[in-house]
Amino acid sequence: MNRGWLLAIAVGHVLALTAHPGVAQNAGPAKPDLARAQQIVTQVCAACHGAEGVSVAAANPHLAGQHPEYMALQLEHFKLGLRKNPVMAAMSAALSPEDARALGAYFADKKPKPGAAKDKALAEIGQKIYRGGNSRTGLPACASCHSPTGAGMPAQYPRLAGQYADYTYAQLQGFVKGDRGGEIKNASGKLVEDVQGKVMATVAAKMSDREMKAVAEYISGLR
Ligand code: HEC
Ligand code: HEC
Repeated sequence: MNRGWLLAIAVGHVLALTAHPGVAQNAGPAKPDLARAQQIVTQVCAACHGAEGVSVAAANPHLAGQHPEYMALQLEHFKLGLRKNPVMAAMSAALSPEDARALGAYFADKKPKPGAAKDKALAEIGQKIYRGGNSRTGLPACASCHSPTGAGMPAQYPRLAGQYADYTYAQLQGFVKGDRGGEIKNASGKLVEDVQGKVMATVAAKMSDREMKAVAEYISGLR
């Protein structure tokens, strides 16, 4: 199936879901509605991220085991256009903050699939950067925030371990290009800043293209 079709079908499902708000949504920190999350995942997200958060295409990140607060925040940012991605802008457009929280909780509970690096020599270079950074350029060790195993640290440092190298590399570039880590005005004209994205953008700005590729390769096999 081509991507445009998939997108059209998925957007149709999101709209259909919101057209029938069968679930009463309470304000405040109610428990995440996992039944609703399951429904949205089955009808929309599973096509690209897998029902269990294990994606089969490198362009679509794995979500299994990711931190729920981080995921909910990303969905909010996609919806606002603060994190720039046309596909996920469409996918998040109809999601309420409660939906985003429930979806975060749903995927956080799933088991990540361990990966393996394809290019061992490149991954070895990446390992040095991941663990030690680069003292010459002032690049900090990735492990200092994302933990030595790549499990990350809730709530602000996302899990990286086992992620597709292509996706990780694209994100590192995205931080440099300003697809993440910027700021935008919301509907009421208030400036919203991607505070955590800015932290990572500062890190990514210190990386060479080769360092990005090497560390992305290492992360794909990290567990
Ligand atoms: C048509 C394919 C497609 C569908 C359907 C889709 N996504 Fe995505 N998703 C993507 C792509 C591509 C990215 C990478 C975006 C980028 O590069 O910033 C992504 C990124 C994400 C991220 C960011 C992950 C991270 O580690 O930062 C989250 C969270 C996410 N999607 C959740 C969802 C949820 C929840 C749904 C269902 C409502 C969904 N996606 C439906 C393709 C899709
Ligand atoms: C000072 C702490 C810090 C250091 C050091 C750091 N990061 Fe991050 N990283 C973050 C934060 C915070 C985020 C979340 C950004 C957001 O919310 O958009 C992040 C996000 C990311 C993401 C996006 C994950 C996703 O699922 O989309 C990648 C990839 C990443 N970091 C890779 C790295 C690599 C590689 C290194 C080492 C070269 C590194 N980080 C070092 C703080 C850090």
